[in-house]
Amino acid sequence: MYIVLLVFVSLISSGCLAEFVITAHEREELGGGEAPTVGLGFNMESLLKKYGYPFENHGVITEDGYVLALHRIPYGRNSSETNETKPAVLIVHGIGSSSGDFVVLGPERSLPLMLADLGYDVWLGNNRGNTWSRKHQTLDADKNSSFWDFSFDELSLYDTPAMIDHVLTVSRNEKLSYVGHSQGTTQFFALASQQPDYNDKVNVMMALGPAVYCGNMSNPIVQFLKDYYTVVELLTSYLNLTEILPHSLVIETALKLVCKDGGEYQEACPIILFILFGFDSDQLNRSDIKVLLDTFPAGFAIKELKHYLQLVKSNTFRQFDYGILNNMAKYNKSSPPEYNVSLVTAPVALYYGQNDWLVGMADVNRLADELPNVVEKRLIDYEYFNHIDFILAKDVASMLYFNVINKLNEINGFAPIISTSTLSTSATSTTNESGSTTSPDNTTSTEDGGRHTGSASSLNKMAHIICIFVAVLIFVI
Ligand SMILES: *[C@@H]1O[C@H](CO)[C@@H](O)[C@H](O)[C@H]1NC(C)=O
Ligand SMILES: *[C@@H]1O[C@H](CO)[C@@H](O)[C@H](O)[C@H]1NC(C)=O
Ligand SMILES: *[C@@H]1O[C@H](CO)[C@@H](O)[C@H](O)[C@H]1NC(C)=O
Ligand SMILES: *[C@@H]1O[C@H](CO)[C@@H](O)[C@H](O)[C@H]1NC(C)=O
Ligand SMILES: *[C@@H]1O[C@H](CO)[C@@H](O)[C@H](O)[C@H]1NC(C)=O
Ligand SMILES: *[C@@H]1O[C@H](CO)[C@@H](O)[C@H](O)[C@H]1NC(C)=O
Ligand SMILES: *[C@@H]1O[C@H](CO)[C@@H](O)[C@H](O)[C@H]1NC(C)=O
Ligand SMILES: *[C@@H]1O[C@H](CO)[C@@H](O)[C@H](O)[C@H]1NC(C)=O
Ligand SMILES: *[C@@H]1O[C@H](CO)[C@@H](O)[C@H](O)[C@H]1NC(C)=O
Ligand SMILES: *[C@@H]1O[C@H](CO)[C@@H](O)[C@H](O)[C@H]1NC(C)=O
Repeated sequence: MYIVLLVFVSLISSGCLAEFVITAHEREELGGGEAPTVGLGFNMESLLKKYGYPFENHGVITEDGYVLALHRIPYGRNSSETNETKPAVLIVHGIGSSSGDFVVLGPERSLPLMLADLGYDVWLGNNRGNTWSRKHQTLDADKNSSFWDFSFDELSLYDTPAMIDHVLTVSRNEKLSYVGHSQGTTQFFALASQQPDYNDKVNVMMALGPAVYCGNMSNPIVQFLKDYYTVVELLTSYLNLTEILPHSLVIETALKLVCKDGGEYQEACPIILFILFGFDSDQLNRSDIKVLLDTFPAGFAIKELKHYLQLVKSNTFRQFDYGILNNMAKYNKSSPPEYNVSLVTAPVALYYGQNDWLVGMADVNRLADELPNVVEKRLIDYEYFNHIDFILAKDVASMLYFNVINKLNEINGFAPIISTSTLSTSATSTTNESGSTTSPDNTTSTEDGGRHTGSASSLNKMAHIICIFVAVLIFVI
């Protein structure tokens, strides 16, 4: 109960602190330009330069006037600009996240950076409302509440197609590979079920923690909020809450103080992450949290959260529910139209965790049964893999990324890297150039795989049991 209150108080206060948000749009030219500095001084371009990668900032305007930032890493380290067409990958973040979260932890654990080194043209999306995409042609994110009137319906209708089309045009490809995490998958499945031509614009959809059916989501807070949906609705509209958890200077400073190494309350930070995403102590390096706070959280609309609560409640994948009367006006039906995932004909690869509190295994199985073109369905071979491990796990490269890269390589005509995920011994992985249509550089990625296995320490198991106990307690109260 206290935790629920705590979460609510923090949500509300983050809305109140919106005036202190320092975001990209204050310094950014319309349609790209210089990479802006955010929060306490994080800058994508400087970070990537430090690691030896090039960076481009692209502005994309959606049909309904939002200005989105697409971040491009056109080639890898030890490589240089060429005019050849390379296979493009578009990576789209989850709710509350942004492009930055994929790169802050450095090249050894960053899927986009690994892909750039292997010869891909890498693009990172930023959905409307997050740190880098708080701009609109006529609306002001801080003043006009209608800016925040969107859920993943709008992301699928406007943002996702705008990003895909821009990447295809600039990279001069007919198809791209799409990688989505969490909501990044939701918006793709919604799009591809509504607009069939987008199925032909991707050669594969890599779904990391696919959030489509949500009936079996085990997160106790979400289950609690779902049961009190009406209260959430009333409270947020009474308080005029439109935006939550923006990347503000105040919150970043406060969280970094709490989460810093050696801080008295440092252990509170992982606990908050565990309660949101699932418990996985062994794979969380406490020091990484502070690094992630450079860019996380990145802000999202309260309507996005409400939409997911509706999905949990209805156990269906459908458009936003405005209530019977308003549904009649908007959809000419008393209930919202469903997204039919059996119309998603693009090849889909599903990757999911056993301990993901936001994406239930039964829900992924149901999705896989309905999708007509599943090319891979991989349950990650680690008992405690949770929803944020897709980005944050210490061994995410060997547990997940090597498999993802091999699949992408197979589909894009690159030879497989030697994976340590199944062999769990080799220390280096090399690319094989011979089978490539556009050959990647002779890169080696120095992942130190093999540290993880399917088992976890007994401490982790014990902590997991305690965490479930606490969760059940919250649920009962
Ligand atoms: C790159 O290639 C495109 C078409 O393949 C061409 O139009 C363009 O002029 C080339 N640019 C450079 C700098 O060579
Ligand atoms: C947005 O807010 C500004 C300042 O409050 C106001 O002048 C403007 O009319 C608003 N625009 C719309 C479209 O509501
Ligand atoms: C969990 O998933 C199964 C299979 O899709 C479904 O029958 C069941 O209703 C779901 N549970 C909840 C609580 O929605
Ligand atoms: C919410 O907005 C309405 C109208 O815009 C205003 O009258 C009301 O005072 C606001 N409520 C709060 C708590 O700010
Ligand atoms: C934990 O993270 C910090 C900062 O990212 C890093 O310096 C340290 O080497 C990491 N430790 C382990 C065991 O991975
Ligand atoms: C609304 O739906 C009814 C039948 O369900 C149909 O007859 C009618 O034409 C629809 N109206 C609009 C505006 O689409
Ligand atoms: C979904 O699409 C399939 C294929 O067109 C169709 O057979 C099925 O009836 C549709 N399901 C719903 C719920 O509309
Ligand atoms: C590269 O892969 C091709 C087929 O995928 C294989 O025939 C060839 O032997 C490989 N070359 C090396 C150097 O591993
Ligand atoms: C590729 O790397 C391997 C091992 O690092 C090296 O032996 C080989 O000469 C390199 N090939 C090219 C074409 O640079
Ligand atoms: C880039 O080149 C340097 C020096 O030759 C080498 O140490 C490094 O491992 C290379 N990095 C990649 C990703 O190939």
